[in-house]
Amino acid sequence: MSNRTFTMIKPDAMKNGHAGAILDRIIKEGFRVVSLKMTKLSKEKAGEFYAVHAARPFYGELVEFMSSGVIIAAILEKPNAVAAFRTLIGATNPAQAEAGTIRKLFATSVGENAVHGSDSDENAAIEGNFFFSGLEQF
Ligand code: TYD
Repeated sequence: MSNRTFTMIKPDAMKNGHAGAILDRIIKEGFRVVSLKMTKLSKEKAGEFYAVHAARPFYGELVEFMSSGVIIAAILEKPNAVAAFRTLIGATNPAQAEAGTIRKLFATSVGENAVHGSDSDENAAIEGNFFFSGLEQF
């Protein structure tokens, strides 16, 4: 079990002014920030990041949305980070997310759902390395 995960604050949450509240909640829940940056994905980079979903019907919209504005990307550390963070963000569809989760509080819809959280230790490492060099991982 690794103690790191990767997250993005997605363009909807950035545009709606929720980035500060989301970061505050993440830190209050005991995650240490290993790496953090504000950046913007090109369509090509967004497509690469979500390549695993390329055959899904929502892929085109997902790539458009994720490249539509700035995001915050971060690597986070806490014991059992992947599972702990997915509990904190809640279900993919905010309508089904538990009360008090980040998606319930801040997401707009299943497509524009405020935050990303890695779904496995392996993907957490791949995704963190997609955005951050070894020199940027503290
Ligand atoms: P997925 O990996 O299933 O969800 P999660 O982000 O909770 O791990 O899907 C990746 C993203 O794709 C999801 O955050 C939003 C988008 N998406 C849609 O737009 N429509 C959908 O029906 C699904 C399942 C996902």
